[in-house]
Amino acid sequence: MTGNVQDLYLELLKAVLTNTLDSNEPVLDDGPLFIHRFTQHYINGNALTMVPLARMNNLQQCVVDVIDRKIAGDFIEAGVWRGGLTIFMRAVLEACGETERCVWVADSFEGLPVPDAEKYPLEAAAHAGPVMTKSFDHFSCSLDQVKENFSKFHLLDDRVHFIKGWFKDTLPIAPIQRLAIIRLDGDYFESTMEGLVNLYPKLSPGGFIIIDDYGEDEWTYCRQAVDQYRASNQIDAPLIEVDSKCFYWQKPIANS
Ligand SMILES: C[S@@+](CC[C@H](N)C(=O)[O-])C[C@H]1O[C@@H](n2cnc3c(N)ncnc32)[C@H](O)[C@@H]1O
Repeated sequence: MTGNVQDLYLELLKAVLTNTLDSNEPVLDDGPLFIHRFTQHYINGNALTMVPLARMNNLQQCVVDVIDRKIAGDFIEAGVWRGGLTIFMRAVLEACGETERCVWVADSFEGLPVPDAEKYPLEAAAHAGPVMTKSFDHFSCSLDQVKENFSKFHLLDDRVHFIKGWFKDTLPIAPIQRLAIIRLDGDYFESTMEGLVNLYPKLSPGGFIIIDDYGEDEWTYCRQAVDQYRASNQIDAPLIEVDSKCFYWQKPIANS
């Protein structure tokens, strides 16, 4: 549990990382203006994460909860863009006086992979479209830039581990022992499935897995990857809604 000064630090950090100190975050209710506002606020702005505050609050709750309940394991985000959520995970460890756990930061650091157009036509169309190519630059951000972002907050140390490359190559051999939090934000079917197959078996019972794009049905097949993995591994822990796009579940303590 954090105290008042720690809470104030984390609230301030969330506002800085989401670029909401003095401007409001874009919301889906912005309608046709949403993409424009999203691009201005996050991509062209100073935000270090593009997730809404509600999802940062969800991450904070999950992290504090596993610390309080002493659920063993490190934290990982697979798909980090500018690194904001992993910076935040490292900050919560600091605020909670946690000295053992590490944060794993996994990304190509060169943006989204090209989806197979035959298997994943919606993703391929979005990937090749003007928004992804011109406005979002496929969410590309270099490893050096992400490290610099950690440094700005004095949170780059030996408890932050970077895993650079495509998930299909890196996650199967990543030297991770045990995880208490998995956050998957790789958008596409294969990126999500690679995260599930390689990381979920390492999640401690009682830990959390958060799927950022579960509800992004207009341009990804993330939901299908999650549903398929859950069905084939007999996972029936309830999926809990953070907002209309982001969902998470807790790995059951018994029979997990
Ligand atoms: C939407 S962004 C992540 C947003 C980030 N979580 C945040 O807080 O702003 C998606 C990220 O996933 C990465 N990514 C997606 N699929 C990947 C894969 N198969 N291998 C490596 N990186 C991948 C991209 O490089 C990009 O940084």
